[in-house]
Amino acid sequence: MIGIFDSGMGGLTVLSAIREALPSSDVVYFGDTLNAPYGMRTREDLTRLTVEGLQLLQRRGANNIVSACNSVSASLAVSLFDALSLAPQQLIEMVGPTVGYFKGSTAPLVLCATPATIQSGIYQNAFRMIGRDVQSIAIEPLAGAIESGTSNEEIERVIHDSFENVTLEPGSILILACTHYPIVISAFRKVLGEDVTIFDPAFAVAERAEKQFWPQEVGDSRTIFILSKDSAPFRALASKLFPNTKYEVKVLE
Ligand code: DGL
Repeated sequence: MIGIFDSGMGGLTVLSAIREALPSSDVVYFGDTLNAPYGMRTREDLTRLTVEGLQLLQRRGANNIVSACNSVSASLAVSLFDALSLAPQQLIEMVGPTVGYFKGSTAPLVLCATPATIQSGIYQNAFRMIGRDVQSIAIEPLAGAIESGTSNEEIERVIHDSFENVTLEPGSILILACTHYPIVISAFRKVLGEDVTIFDPAFAVAERAEKQFWPQEVGDSRTIFILSKDSAPFRALASKLFPNTKYEVKVLE
């Protein structure tokens, strides 16, 4: 069974891509809606929440994990593999597959993400390793606004304000390095215009999952969502993205 972890609904964008790549896999998804958003939390907090989230998924039967939250990638230190008895090939996080996708690309790269992701420097370092610079933009309130089902107008205003002083070179690729952001990709397009290419890393992560987890993750297409707090916006997005899928939503007491 594949375990997917995020602070809330953002990982659904990754699950959607994984469903294309590994349609019959069984999935248990944990959205830590009680503690969302993660993107403004300290590194210590994120490490604790990550360990707890991954342990919960392991207890529910996950052997392979996709950490569908960029904000916790910096907390997935090498010591975690021993702490959770996980082998490196049992865990996929967002940064490696995203950066790997741009090997050999020469386009100007712009990355937007939560403050936790940008401040950790994890993307900047990983891009340096492939010889690339990346312009980074932290968008403070966006993931939380998406998680709570804020109106489109307000979402567009937040995006507009965050890019107000940013000049995007022609031919730039904007990387949505927060799994919540593709949920509002049309708002990004509306604010930034059609000339900017927008990249959703979910597809690179799903490709990696297919490489790493097939064929052992051939199953019965079961999907279980576990939430630490009930969330109407989460339920609404799950039914919009997976209209023909039978799934269960369990809320932790
Ligand atoms: N979806 C997560 C990410 O990719 C977390 C966003 C948040 O909870 O602030 O960073």
